Amino acid sequence: MSDAHSDALVFFGATGDLAYKKIFPALQAMVKRGHLHVPVIGVAKAGWGVDELRARARDSVKQHGGLDAAAFDKLSRLLRYVDGDYRDPATFQAIRQQLGSAQRPAHYLAIPPTLFGPVVEQLARSGCAKGARVIVEKPFGSDRASAQALNRTLLGSFDERTIFRIDHYLGKRPVHHMLFFRFANPFMAPFWNRNDVESVQITMAEEFGIQGRGAFYDETGTVRDVVQNHLFQVLSNLAMEPPVKTDSQSIRDEKVKVLEAIPVLAPDDVVRGQFRGYRSEKGVAADSKVETFVALRLQIDSWRWQGVPFYIRAGKCLPVTCTEIVVRLRRPPTIFQGFHLDSNYCRFRISPDVTLAIGANVIAPGQETRSQTAEMVGSRLPGAEEMDAYERVLGDAMEGDSTLFAREDYVEEAWRIVDPVLKDATPVYEYEPGTWGPKEGDSKVSPPGGWHNPPPLGRT
Ligand code: BG6
Repeated sequence: MSDAHSDALVFFGATGDLAYKKIFPALQAMVKRGHLHVPVIGVAKAGWGVDELRARARDSVKQHGGLDAAAFDKLSRLLRYVDGDYRDPATFQAIRQQLGSAQRPAHYLAIPPTLFGPVVEQLARSGCAKGARVIVEKPFGSDRASAQALNRTLLGSFDERTIFRIDHYLGKRPVHHMLFFRFANPFMAPFWNRNDVESVQITMAEEFGIQGRGAFYDETGTVRDVVQNHLFQVLSNLAMEPPVKTDSQSIRDEKVKVLEAIPVLAPDDVVRGQFRGYRSEKGVAADSKVETFVALRLQIDSWRWQGVPFYIRAGKCLPVTCTEIVVRLRRPPTIFQGFHLDSNYCRFRISPDVTLAIGANVIAPGQETRSQTAEMVGSRLPGAEEMDAYERVLGDAMEGDSTLFAREDYVEEAWRIVDPVLKDATPVYEYEPGTWGPKEGDSKVSPPGGWHNPPPLGRT
């Protein structure tokens, strides 16, 4: 039963921002690919009917990716709508009715985590949880204790195998394919460890600000928004041991081990920044100390990685939008008198383009005594046919494949690491929009050899 495809999708938060930006476009794409044939029941409290939901869906796909008339028409016919309060049993009776003969619905909670509890409870009471899966959006809690409480709530009505905690970064093909690249190419294996790797840095830079999400962001900050989830997943893919099999359990077992080996962060490991102007954004407190930038250093105390510093940097209003990893190797010994040799490195760019590059020392053209770094690069833009992350994770959840979802123990371990530096355990430094964060990020938490700043688009 648990492996069968879901026979209905109920999504709570149907009139919200996430539905508008991501979910309707993903649903249209699923229909277009022939992956979605089941009723899609939107739930919200907006005083709407199904016609308003259809109009909103049409608008959403037009704005985000484009309307495909044939696919949208099919999606439109699959759409249903239930209007009501998430705490009112009548809402769930109406959902039950809309579900008709469905045996294995998937309930997608695209709603604030404070509502997970009441919704899950009502799902159980109304019988809607029977045979069902539940898909929950991030943020999954706001610290370790709240994540544990959420897990207790969900596990009160659902089995872990039927809970899908979304981290849409895992649905990004290049993130998942880091594992393929590592374990399909044996040339990587000999140097992928503490003997040769000097440091690892992960940068997730965003050129834009908080895009009208002030109220959300001011409760959240960069560590909770993208580090504890998205960037720790990237880190786990970089650092994990080869799984014994490629099923979801084996892969997720190895990821949890990476996090288990990471000591909690100390204030000295973290520099937080806030872009100038953040406090004037709508929904943001005038004296907010919430970070819009963070640079941090952590250790993975495992046999493979002990002593290698890992750095993570993320922020809003930085000079470019780009997510990139640089793995620097130890400097080579030299027999070439007078030459300064740089570290070899591997550079993986996850977005906006997908790049794999290896940096090596070569003799600088026209010079006999100078070395320079040349890159061997493989790069491509994501193809138009490629699945968007949301399409992939929703499809996988409805099929019951948990590989691209965060498991209970993983989420709690991730919170354990960042818990001590959440809130204002460390100062927040102001930085100018369009720069690489506060200067303290360069002086206090900086990889040997410095941060690699991805250049503006169009240049490598
Ligand atoms: C979201 C964060 O989870 O991920 C946003 O809330 C961030 O702040 C976004 O911008 C980045 O994801 P993507 O897919 O747009 O790179």
